[in-house]
Amino acid sequence: IKNIGVLTSGGDAPGMNAAIRAVVRASLYHNLKVTGILRGYEGLIQGDFFPMDGKSVANIIQRGGTILKTYRCDAFRTKEGRAQAYKNLKESEIDALVVIGGDGTFRGADIFSQEFDFPIVGLPGTIDNDLMGTDFAIGYDTAINNVVNAVDKIRDTAESHDRLFIVEVMGRDSGLIALRSGIGVGAEAILIPEAKVGLPQLFHRIETGRKDKASKIIIVAEGDEGGGAYVVGEALKEKFPKYDIRISVLGHIQRGGKPTCMDRVLASRLGVAAVEGLLEGKTDVMVGQINKEIVFTPFSQTTKHIDAEKITPAWLRLVEILSM
Ligand code: F6P
Repeated sequence: IKNIGVLTSGGDAPGMNAAIRAVVRASLYHNLKVTGILRGYEGLIQGDFFPMDGKSVANIIQRGGTILKTYRCDAFRTKEGRAQAYKNLKESEIDALVVIGGDGTFRGADIFSQEFDFPIVGLPGTIDNDLMGTDFAIGYDTAINNVVNAVDKIRDTAESHDRLFIVEVMGRDSGLIALRSGIGVGAEAILIPEAKVGLPQLFHRIETGRKDKASKIIIVAEGDEGGGAYVVGEALKEKFPKYDIRISVLGHIQRGGKPTCMDRVLASRLGVAAVEGLLEGKTDVMVGQINKEIVFTPFSQTTKHIDAEKITPAWLRLVEILSM
């Protein structure tokens, strides 16, 4: 391997810049060339490449977003799109890739690396944290801290007005953001797709909860089957007309801002491991961290659903015990 291409793809995640920096600096450390690819797989198909050096990643470790830009690319799902991408890589003499993203990114990388026998190592970059093969994905820690900071503010006003707030957080198919941030803010209830709490159980929890509480915060994961914060809000208004209810959908504020130190360090460690993994002949795998150890997991196994591994009954029990 002489020239590594690096790209970010799918939804951006805080810490992606720290990961890019690590990939670039580790490549230079091993006397490899490194090429930046703009806008993920879209830039791969368009041939939007530029050489990177140590300076091109200076002063980015603390910045949210991604300097390489990102994109959700449909063309890479087609054979023609991938063939064009391969042609561009060959012409630019890029002989390996590091892709930073989530499940969609890895599904594309899995097909591409097998189709063209092309070396690819992935870095988990998604605030959703919904990947197998790593305890934490880059961006998740920052996102849950963003949620905690926002909901702490909501708690102040909720407490002052004796209100019940329903706060919707991100997580397309996963309740991990809701679960951890919900525990972190002392939420009275958490609705996540993996737990299937349902409205009757939520009503019961509210009915049997302490009556002397001034405020209540219910965290709803975007992917919950209950239909989102507004639907849950309507149902609660009907069932509990005495509550003064407000809704807050946090949205993309969760995905921005400076990465936490946890995310910076994780991204730095995994970025170096990705480059060194490629040099050792690893391909078609994601590099993650499990119990502090670096672990390589085939792409095909990273995108299986994570409920069983990361949302265990013990976590849900914790919510139940603490939300009294
Ligand atoms: O995958 C990360 C994520 O933030 C999900 O939680 C959310 O459903 C989705 O991206 C939103 O995507 P977009 O920014 O493209 O609307």
